[in-house]
Amino acid sequence: MELHGLLLLSLLLFSFHSIPCFGNSEEDAGLYNIMEHPKYYGAFDGEENATDRNPDGFITQSVDEVDGIAASEVVNVADYGAKGDGSDATEAFKKAWLKVCSSPSSATLMVPAKKSYYLKPTTFSGPCKSEVTVMIKGMIKAPPHRSAWDGTNRRHWILFNGVSNLQVTGGGIINGNGQIWWKNSCKINKSLPCKNAPTAITFYGSNNLVVENLKVKNSQQIHVQFEKCTNVRASHLSITAPENSPNTDGIHITSTQNINLDHCNIGTGDDCISIVDGAQTVKATNIICGPGHGISIGSLGAKNSEDHVSDVIIDTAKLTSTTNGLRIKTWQGGSGYAKHIRFQNVYMKNVQNPIIIDQNYCDSKEPCHQQKSAVHVSDVVYNNIKGTSASDVAIDFECSKSVPCQGIVLQAINLVKENGGSAKSICKNVNLTKKGTVIPPACA
Ligand SMILES: *[C@@H]1O[C@H](CO)[C@@H](O)[C@H](O)[C@H]1NC(C)=O
Ligand SMILES: *[C@@H]1O[C@H](CO)[C@@H](O)[C@H](O)[C@H]1NC(C)=O
Ligand SMILES: *[C@@H]1O[C@H](CO)[C@@H](O)[C@H](O)[C@H]1NC(C)=O
Repeated sequence: MELHGLLLLSLLLFSFHSIPCFGNSEEDAGLYNIMEHPKYYGAFDGEENATDRNPDGFITQSVDEVDGIAASEVVNVADYGAKGDGSDATEAFKKAWLKVCSSPSSATLMVPAKKSYYLKPTTFSGPCKSEVTVMIKGMIKAPPHRSAWDGTNRRHWILFNGVSNLQVTGGGIINGNGQIWWKNSCKINKSLPCKNAPTAITFYGSNNLVVENLKVKNSQQIHVQFEKCTNVRASHLSITAPENSPNTDGIHITSTQNINLDHCNIGTGDDCISIVDGAQTVKATNIICGPGHGISIGSLGAKNSEDHVSDVIIDTAKLTSTTNGLRIKTWQGGSGYAKHIRFQNVYMKNVQNPIIIDQNYCDSKEPCHQQKSAVHVSDVVYNNIKGTSASDVAIDFECSKSVPCQGIVLQAINLVKENGGSAKSICKNVNLTKKGTVIPPACA
């Protein structure tokens, strides 16, 4: 049993280290380091050659290799009057979509390379007659002023509504131009009321969805959202926004079942990945995260809601200089559960709260008062979590007194302070099992 465990652990360690973009050790030159790639984060504006921007080689698939493209009808937005010189192409996109979506055989909407298209808030509605591919090779830009949303839903910029059997790919760029929204956020200017800002790209009510090989940047708020979807594969996505941009989550998953995220590189002003109510069977592998707020389950239970999240696996991730690492956050007064959750093979570098369960989460202008009910957190395994904490407390379990955390497992944990020395743990109302080495010792 012990030997088996060791073998498993070394296997896990090996697989973690063998991911090409991760390199072999923290000091390894091949390791992703945002500070070493300022260009990647800073030089997006203006120039935009849609390819070869990614230092990690994430954009690897050549467009010609994408299955099914050769056989399908290609509808180019240029054929509907889109100039590609940065001018408004909304009408051309709408017409091209109608053509593609009503095609009796699989069809591709083509957004050509080396062109830039300005797109007003737009809904691409399904159902479509056959499989649809949206091939974004060039850049799509959002309006830089908020009046473009007058009379429309402020929650969305690009919305795919009820489009099943959809693939969105191409290596191009989706630019939310979010600066004006950030400036007017109540998080930035405290004298302003809190209002929604658009999500750059939302997939709503889609079954069988592939989203891959895209760069999404500077969203008004959330970058990519999956809502009421099933069977989703999202891979090779690069998502970037400044560290101080408010609520700019990378990937937000809600009411969605069976979703795989793989090879995503996310650095924004909020959660890299946020997994909320109705998310079930979520797997995220090979994730690079930072800056931002880390990988979050929650928040759950806001405004006394009943929320459910289950069967989540986060396997192989590197988080750098994020405010949280692996976080579960719930508000007091909620109900429901977060259960069957595995975090494994995660490397942290200078993370404020590497491992945290917070059942007293309160992200509101008013203070939150003490309440009896809570979202139940159970069966959460942390296995092979290594690296450094920016704060003294590397493991922080702040669970509810009335609804304690159950079945929490720490296994092969080694977290020390970034500036040297040992870190601490906090354990409140948690039923914990430890296996193998656990540093810092938790709930001793
Ligand atoms: C963009 O692509 C063009 C044509 O391939 C090339 O001439 C130009 O140097 C590229 N610009 C950048 C910034 O890479
Ligand atoms: C914050 O908002 C108020 C009210 O609209 C405005 O008067 C003020 O100039 C804003 N502050 C900044 C720094 O933009
Ligand atoms: C802790 O969990 C174990 C196994 O799930 C259970 O048997 C035990 O009663 C729990 N202890 C407390 C104090 O909840």
